[in-house]
Amino acid sequence: MSLRVRGLTVSFGNMRVLDGVDLEVPRNTVFAVMGPSGSGKSTLLRVFNRLVEIYPDVRVNGEVYLDGANIFELDLQRLRVRVQMVFQLPNPIPNLSIYENVALGLKLNRLARSRRELEERVRRALERAQLWDEVRDRLGSPASKLSGGQQQRLVLARALAFEPEVLLMDEPTANLDPVNTARIEELMVELKRELTIVLVTHYPPQAARVSDYVAFMYRGRIVEVGPTGEMFTRPRHELTERYVTGAL
Ligand SMILES: Nc1ncnc2c1ncn2[C@@H]1O[C@H](COP(=O)(O)OP(=O)(O)O)[C@@H](O)[C@H]1O
Ligand SMILES: [Mg+2]
Repeated sequence: MSLRVRGLTVSFGNMRVLDGVDLEVPRNTVFAVMGPSGSGKSTLLRVFNRLVEIYPDVRVNGEVYLDGANIFELDLQRLRVRVQMVFQLPNPIPNLSIYENVALGLKLNRLARSRRELEERVRRALERAQLWDEVRDRLGSPASKLSGGQQQRLVLARALAFEPEVLLMDEPTANLDPVNTARIEELMVELKRELTIVLVTHYPPQAARVSDYVAFMYRGRIVEVGPTGEMFTRPRHELTERYVTGAL
Protein backbone atom coordinates (compact mmCIF):
# COMPACT_ATOMS: atom_id res chain seq x y z
CA MET A 1 0.00 0.00 0.00
CA SER A 2 1.54 3.27 -1.02
CA LEU A 3 -0.66 5.82 0.76
CA ARG A 4 -3.02 5.04 3.59
CA VAL A 5 -5.30 7.64 5.12
CA ARG A 6 -7.09 7.07 8.43
CA GLY A 7 -9.70 9.36 9.96
CA LEU A 8 -8.33 12.48 8.32
CA THR A 9 -10.06 15.66 9.38
CA VAL A 10 -8.90 19.12 8.32
CA SER A 11 -10.33 22.43 9.49
CA PHE A 12 -9.50 26.03 8.65
CA GLY A 13 -10.52 28.05 11.68
CA ASN A 14 -13.88 26.56 12.61
CA MET A 15 -14.71 25.39 9.09
CA ARG A 16 -14.30 21.64 8.65
CA VAL A 17 -13.13 20.94 5.10
CA LEU A 18 -12.25 17.24 5.34
CA ASP A 19 -14.30 15.04 7.62
CA GLY A 20 -13.07 11.60 8.58
CA VAL A 21 -11.45 10.58 5.30
CA ASP A 22 -10.26 6.96 4.97
CA LEU A 23 -8.45 5.90 1.81
CA GLU A 24 -5.95 3.43 0.50
CA VAL A 25 -4.01 4.26 -2.61
CA PRO A 26 -2.21 1.20 -3.98
CA ARG A 27 1.21 1.74 -5.45
CA ASN A 28 1.72 2.02 -9.22
CA THR A 29 -1.81 3.13 -9.90
CA VAL A 30 -3.53 6.27 -11.06
CA PHE A 31 -5.92 7.06 -8.23
CA ALA A 32 -8.46 9.72 -9.21
CA VAL A 33 -10.21 11.96 -6.72
CA MET A 34 -13.27 13.56 -8.22
CA GLY A 35 -16.09 15.66 -6.91
CA PRO A 36 -17.68 19.06 -7.28
CA SER A 37 -15.78 22.26 -6.64
CA GLY A 38 -15.31 22.91 -2.93
CA SER A 39 -15.57 19.28 -1.90
CA GLY A 40 -12.04 19.23 -0.46
CA LYS A 41 -10.06 17.56 -3.25
CA SER A 42 -7.19 20.07 -3.31
CA THR A 43 -7.02 20.12 0.47
CA LEU A 44 -6.66 16.33 0.50
CA LEU A 45 -3.75 16.52 -1.96
CA ARG A 46 -2.14 19.28 0.09
CA VAL A 47 -2.16 17.04 3.13
CA PHE A 48 -0.14 14.40 1.28
CA ASN A 49 2.89 16.69 0.90
CA ARG A 50 1.96 18.68 4.03
CA LEU A 51 1.59 21.84 1.99
CA VAL A 52 -1.57 22.42 4.00
CA GLU A 53 0.63 23.39 6.94
CA ILE A 54 1.43 26.75 5.36
CA TYR A 55 -1.99 28.01 6.52
CA PRO A 56 -1.75 29.38 10.06
CA ASP A 57 -5.32 28.51 11.05
CA VAL A 58 -5.26 24.91 9.81
CA ARG A 59 -5.87 21.92 12.06
CA VAL A 60 -5.11 18.42 10.85
CA ASN A 61 -6.22 15.30 12.69
CA GLY A 62 -5.87 11.69 11.69
CA GLU A 63 -3.13 9.69 10.10
CA VAL A 64 -1.48 9.42 6.72
CA TYR A 65 1.08 6.72 6.02
CA LEU A 66 3.49 6.60 3.13
CA ASP A 67 4.63 3.00 2.85
CA GLY A 68 3.95 2.49 6.51
CA ALA A 69 5.66 5.69 7.72
CA ASN A 70 3.55 8.39 9.33
CA ILE A 71 4.07 11.44 7.09
CA PHE A 72 3.68 13.82 10.03
CA GLU A 73 6.74 12.24 11.63
CA LEU A 74 8.89 12.32 8.50
CA ASP A 75 11.42 15.03 7.77
CA LEU A 76 9.47 17.64 5.83
CA GLN A 77 12.11 18.33 3.21
CA ARG A 78 12.57 14.63 2.58
CA LEU A 79 8.80 14.09 2.34
CA ARG A 80 8.49 16.83 -0.25
CA VAL A 81 11.17 15.19 -2.37
CA ARG A 82 9.32 11.88 -2.25
CA VAL A 83 5.87 13.39 -2.83
CA GLN A 84 5.80 15.91 -5.67
CA MET A 85 2.96 18.07 -6.91
CA VAL A 86 1.82 19.54 -10.22
CA PHE A 87 -0.80 22.28 -10.18
CA GLN A 88 -3.53 23.37 -12.54
CA LEU A 89 -1.63 26.41 -13.77
CA PRO A 90 1.93 25.65 -14.87
CA ASN A 91 4.22 27.63 -12.60
CA PRO A 92 7.76 27.57 -13.97
CA ILE A 93 9.97 30.47 -12.92
CA PRO A 94 9.46 32.54 -16.09
CA ASN A 95 12.84 34.29 -16.38
CA LEU A 96 14.79 31.20 -15.53
CA SER A 97 15.95 28.96 -18.37
CA ILE A 98 14.28 25.69 -19.23
CA TYR A 99 17.32 23.86 -17.89
CA GLU A 100 17.49 25.81 -14.64
CA ASN A 101 13.81 25.33 -13.95
CA VAL A 102 14.40 21.60 -13.74
CA ALA A 103 17.88 21.79 -12.16
CA LEU A 104 17.15 24.30 -9.40
CA GLY A 105 15.33 21.99 -6.99
CA LEU A 106 17.99 19.33 -7.41
CA LYS A 107 20.70 21.86 -6.59
CA LEU A 108 18.86 23.28 -3.58
CA ASN A 109 18.34 19.78 -2.21
CA ARG A 110 21.88 18.70 -3.14
CA LEU A 111 20.56 15.72 -5.04
CA ALA A 112 23.27 15.62 -7.69
CA ARG A 113 26.89 15.01 -6.80
CA SER A 114 28.42 16.42 -9.95
CA ARG A 115 27.57 18.72 -12.81
CA ARG A 116 27.43 15.72 -15.06
CA GLU A 117 24.97 13.90 -12.83
CA LEU A 118 22.85 17.05 -12.66
CA GLU A 119 22.76 17.30 -16.45
CA GLU A 120 21.85 13.64 -16.71
CA ARG A 121 18.97 14.00 -14.28
CA VAL A 122 17.64 17.09 -16.03
CA ARG A 123 17.77 15.34 -19.35
CA ARG A 124 16.12 12.20 -18.02
CA ALA A 125 13.34 14.24 -16.40
CA LEU A 126 12.67 16.13 -19.63
CA GLU A 127 12.59 12.84 -21.49
CA ARG A 128 10.14 11.29 -19.04
CA ALA A 129 7.89 14.34 -19.42
CA GLN A 130 8.15 13.97 -23.21
CA LEU A 131 9.57 17.45 -23.60
CA TRP A 132 13.22 16.72 -24.36
CA ASP A 133 12.89 16.55 -28.14
CA GLU A 134 11.20 19.95 -28.22
CA VAL A 135 13.69 21.78 -26.00
CA ARG A 136 17.05 20.03 -26.36
CA ASP A 137 18.33 22.78 -28.67
CA ARG A 138 17.22 25.66 -26.45
CA LEU A 139 17.76 24.59 -22.87
CA GLY A 140 19.13 28.06 -22.11
CA SER A 141 16.10 30.01 -23.25
CA PRO A 142 13.57 31.29 -20.71
CA ALA A 143 10.74 29.02 -19.66
CA SER A 144 8.27 31.79 -20.48
CA LYS A 145 8.94 31.23 -24.19
CA LEU A 146 7.30 27.82 -24.06
CA SER A 147 3.63 27.25 -24.90
CA GLY A 148 1.15 26.48 -22.12
CA GLY A 149 1.20 22.77 -22.90
CA GLN A 150 5.01 22.74 -22.90
CA GLN A 151 5.13 24.66 -19.62
CA GLN A 152 2.88 22.07 -18.02
CA ARG A 153 5.28 19.34 -19.18
CA LEU A 154 8.19 21.45 -17.90
CA VAL A 155 6.78 21.60 -14.37
CA LEU A 156 6.06 17.90 -14.66
CA ALA A 157 9.74 17.39 -15.57
CA ARG A 158 10.73 19.53 -12.59
CA ALA A 159 8.67 17.24 -10.36
CA LEU A 160 10.00 14.06 -11.97
CA ALA A 161 13.60 15.23 -11.58
CA PHE A 162 13.26 14.48 -7.86
CA GLU A 163 12.41 10.88 -8.77
CA PRO A 164 9.39 10.97 -6.49
CA GLU A 165 7.42 7.96 -5.31
CA VAL A 166 4.13 9.83 -5.42
CA LEU A 167 3.00 12.44 -7.90
CA LEU A 168 0.07 14.63 -6.92
CA MET A 169 -1.69 16.25 -9.86
CA ASP A 170 -4.35 18.86 -9.15
CA GLU A 171 -6.51 19.31 -12.25
CA PRO A 172 -3.37 19.27 -14.39
CA THR A 173 -5.21 19.60 -17.69
CA ALA A 174 -7.86 22.15 -16.74
CA ASN A 175 -6.12 24.84 -18.79
CA LEU A 176 -4.96 22.72 -21.70
CA ASP A 177 -6.39 22.13 -25.16
CA PRO A 178 -7.49 18.60 -26.13
CA VAL A 179 -4.18 17.70 -27.77
CA ASN A 180 -2.10 18.68 -24.76
CA THR A 181 -4.66 17.10 -22.44
CA ALA A 182 -4.34 13.80 -24.27
CA ARG A 183 -0.55 14.01 -23.96
CA ILE A 184 -0.67 14.49 -20.21
CA GLU A 185 -3.18 11.65 -19.89
CA GLU A 186 -0.91 9.32 -21.87
CA LEU A 187 1.99 10.35 -19.69
CA MET A 188 0.10 9.49 -16.51
CA VAL A 189 -0.58 5.98 -17.75
CA GLU A 190 3.09 5.63 -18.70
CA LEU A 191 4.43 7.06 -15.44
CA LYS A 192 2.41 4.85 -13.12
CA ARG A 193 4.75 2.00 -13.95
CA GLU A 194 7.36 3.82 -11.87
CA LEU A 195 5.35 5.80 -9.34
CA THR A 196 1.93 6.34 -7.83
CA ILE A 197 -0.27 9.15 -9.10
CA VAL A 198 -3.08 10.84 -7.21
CA LEU A 199 -5.05 12.82 -9.76
CA VAL A 200 -7.65 15.40 -8.83
CA THR A 201 -10.13 16.01 -11.58
CA HIS A 202 -13.53 17.60 -11.75
CA TYR A 203 -14.05 16.01 -15.13
CA PRO A 204 -15.37 12.43 -14.76
CA PRO A 205 -14.47 11.31 -18.32
CA GLN A 206 -10.81 11.96 -17.49
CA ALA A 207 -11.04 9.76 -14.40
CA ALA A 208 -12.73 7.10 -16.53
CA ARG A 209 -9.96 7.26 -19.15
CA VAL A 210 -6.84 7.21 -17.03
CA SER A 211 -7.49 5.99 -13.52
CA ASP A 212 -7.46 2.56 -11.90
CA TYR A 213 -9.41 3.66 -8.84
CA VAL A 214 -11.73 6.55 -8.15
CA ALA A 215 -12.76 8.21 -4.93
CA PHE A 216 -15.83 10.41 -5.13
CA MET A 217 -15.80 13.27 -2.63
CA TYR A 218 -18.67 15.43 -1.56
CA ARG A 219 -18.57 18.10 1.12
CA GLY A 220 -15.38 16.87 2.70
CA ARG A 221 -16.29 13.20 2.80
CA ILE A 222 -15.54 10.19 0.65
CA VAL A 223 -18.94 9.08 -0.60
CA GLU A 224 -17.64 6.07 -2.47
CA VAL A 225 -14.36 4.59 -3.61
CA GLY A 226 -13.61 1.67 -5.87
CA PRO A 227 -12.15 0.35 -9.10
CA THR A 228 -12.83 2.83 -11.91
CA GLY A 229 -14.90 0.48 -14.05
CA GLU A 230 -17.28 -0.28 -11.21
CA MET A 231 -17.64 3.33 -10.15
CA PHE A 232 -18.81 4.32 -13.61
CA THR A 233 -20.94 1.29 -14.47
CA ARG A 234 -22.32 0.28 -11.07
CA PRO A 235 -22.08 3.18 -8.63
CA ARG A 236 -23.44 2.16 -5.25
CA HIS A 237 -24.37 5.59 -4.09
CA GLU A 238 -26.97 7.81 -5.70
CA LEU A 239 -24.76 10.90 -5.35
CA THR A 240 -22.00 9.16 -7.31
CA GLU A 241 -24.40 8.18 -10.04
CA ARG A 242 -25.71 11.73 -10.31
CA TYR A 243 -22.19 13.09 -10.44
CA VAL A 244 -20.84 10.75 -13.11
CA THR A 245 -23.88 11.31 -15.29
CA GLY A 246 -23.43 15.07 -14.99
CA ALA A 247 -26.60 15.66 -12.98
CA LEU A 248 -24.84 16.99 -9.87
N1 LIG B 1 -6.57 28.01 3.22
C1 LIG B 1 -7.90 27.96 3.33
N2 LIG B 1 -8.53 28.71 4.26
C2 LIG B 1 -9.87 28.66 4.40
N3 LIG B 1 -10.67 27.87 3.66
C3 LIG B 1 -10.12 27.11 2.71
C4 LIG B 1 -8.71 27.11 2.50
N4 LIG B 1 -8.44 26.24 1.50
C5 LIG B 1 -9.63 25.73 1.11
N5 LIG B 1 -10.63 26.24 1.84
C6 LIG B 1 -12.06 25.90 1.72
O1 LIG B 1 -12.17 24.50 1.85
C7 LIG B 1 -13.17 23.99 0.98
C8 LIG B 1 -12.57 22.93 0.09
O2 LIG B 1 -11.62 23.55 -0.76
P1 LIG B 1 -10.73 22.72 -1.78
O3 LIG B 1 -9.98 21.68 -1.05
O4 LIG B 1 -9.94 23.71 -2.55
O5 LIG B 1 -11.86 22.04 -2.68
P2 LIG B 1 -11.80 21.49 -4.20
O6 LIG B 1 -10.37 21.35 -4.58
O7 LIG B 1 -12.56 20.21 -4.16
O8 LIG B 1 -12.51 22.52 -5.03
C9 LIG B 1 -13.74 25.19 0.22
O9 LIG B 1 -14.90 25.60 0.87
C10 LIG B 1 -12.64 26.21 0.35
O10 LIG B 1 -13.16 27.50 0.29
MG1 LIG C 1 -9.26 22.21 -6.12
